[in-house]
Amino acid sequence: MKVTVVGAGAVGASCAEYIAIKNFASEVVLVDIKEGYAEGKAMDLMQTASLNGFDTRVVGTTGDYTKTADSDICVITSGIPRKPGMTREELIGINAGIVKDVSSSLVKHSPNTIIIVVSNPMDTMTYLVHKTTNLPKNRIIGMGGALDSARFKYRLAEALEAPISDVDGMVIGGHSDKGMVPLTRLATRNSVPVTAFISEERLNQVKEDTKVGGATLTKLLGTSAWYAPGAAVSGLVQAIACDQKKIFPCSTFLEGEYGLNDLCIGVPVVLGKDGIEKIVELELTDAEKDHMKESAEGVSKTNGLLEL
Ligand code: 2OP
Repeated sequence: MKVTVVGAGAVGASCAEYIAIKNFASEVVLVDIKEGYAEGKAMDLMQTASLNGFDTRVVGTTGDYTKTADSDICVITSGIPRKPGMTREELIGINAGIVKDVSSSLVKHSPNTIIIVVSNPMDTMTYLVHKTTNLPKNRIIGMGGALDSARFKYRLAEALEAPISDVDGMVIGGHSDKGMVPLTRLATRNSVPVTAFISEERLNQVKEDTKVGGATLTKLLGTSAWYAPGAAVSGLVQAIACDQKKIFPCSTFLEGEYGLNDLCIGVPVVLGKDGIEKIVELELTDAEKDHMKESAEGVSKTNGLLEL
């Protein structure tokens, strides 16, 4: 199993590190445009192998895509991250050109690969990859929901004063502060609806804190987060590489599912060796449907800024 990660910045490097530590891939190729940077990160990571007990070979390259040839999975993290006060949508101008070039280089050398898009605005970048490569839709996956759901579970555990392993919950919709739809109605603590333990008001606070999860970190760090995004990507990569058939909310191209068409947005999917093997259609309440529709309108508006 060969995995390429484009972008050796904080998110890409953390993603490569988690994949290596989990020890399911034979090779991880790290690509960056900054001379020597990916090679340096790869060497540093390889020097943790004996300490962390993994055999995955991590190699770095400065823009030589021949090294990525025949990758089973490619992750795109390249582009600029948000600065405090910025929305993810504001990154579209620079990142669209980068993501288009990167995905075309990846597909040239790995025509049957599965692409996971992390660059922001993520739903629109996933749509861009869908529109500009000839990959089938099940092989193009946007990473947002897995991260937003992890942040949701963190906030739920905090409110419930419970261990995170006791908590389950999912965020669907767009990967944006306004577009996220945390499904509080379906959140549970060890199978019991969380509303049995916390007030509606506290749950609404959890919802709001989840939606600004990325912005909160950007304000604290001065740039966007990397540990949770890297871990979320590694979870998706592992589910595909190990054919786990796990359910994650991911951004995928919709053709009528959830009443939506011609956009990529976060919905629950089953991930296995073929990428997105199934879109899971949940019965949403009218309020959730309205929120999802509003979220989709936001994503489509950003998609409209693309020069396709
Ligand atoms: C985040 O929410 C990078 O979009 C990513 O942290």
